[in-house]
Amino acid sequence: MERKIITTSDGSVTIHLPEWDEQYHSKHGAIQEARHVFLNIGLHHWLENNSKRPVDILEIGFGTGLNAFLTLLESNRLDTEICYKGVEAYPVTAMEIEKLNYPEAADAVSAEDQFLKLHAVPWEKIASITNKFSLIKNQLKFQEIDLFNQFDLVYFDAFGARVQPELWGEDIFNSMYKALRQQGVLVTYAAKGSVRRAMISAGFQVEKLPGPPGKREMLRAVKL
Ligand SMILES: C[S@@+](CC[C@H](N)C(=O)[O-])C[C@H]1O[C@@H](n2cnc3c(N)ncnc32)[C@H](O)[C@@H]1O
Repeated sequence: MERKIITTSDGSVTIHLPEWDEQYHSKHGAIQEARHVFLNIGLHHWLENNSKRPVDILEIGFGTGLNAFLTLLESNRLDTEICYKGVEAYPVTAMEIEKLNYPEAADAVSAEDQFLKLHAVPWEKIASITNKFSLIKNQLKFQEIDLFNQFDLVYFDAFGARVQPELWGEDIFNSMYKALRQQGVLVTYAAKGSVRRAMISAGFQVEKLPGPPGKREMLRAVKL
């Protein structure tokens, strides 16, 4: 499928899929959205309520590595250990990586080497990006994930249900529920009623919270 790099409202770029009229991030600001949904409502909430370290994070849709990079910056800033697994079936290319302006747009030019390292490390192997942040990237379809009781936090960042409804049903959320530990948390930018109901059927307790700019609501789900 054709992929084009576009600039979003906060100056950070994202990838646009013309065929689906879909983006990897919000057009209202890729970095702004990622910070709100995955850091503020996800990671910071976890850190405030749990003392367990390292934090084990599973990302559904590694894509451009933006969520991983912003999480790595938080690990640096807070001196907190994080083990990060990114699942992705269709990795970005070297040419696309060159056009991703995240270190500059996130005001973290000094961490540019760390951003590039997230992409440069081999797939399927655990790599230390810093002494506090390890990463494993798995090239795999989300539907094939079979993980049990291993994660504290899931960043659920698939394309929208409008274009990939099969990734927002009960089967996927059953698999996410299984992958999380007790008290584990899943966050997503989505807020659709059908998504919320699928999460509840999988066993999650679900909260609606204010969304990032341009979006009224988002969801946070807990495995009790
Ligand atoms: C919304 S984007 C993720 C954005 C990413 N979190 C980032 O920060 O750039 C959704 C991602 O899911 C991937 N994807 C789509 N369908 C998939 C599937 N069935 N299995 C695995 N990955 C898939 C796409 O290639 C894309 O990278």
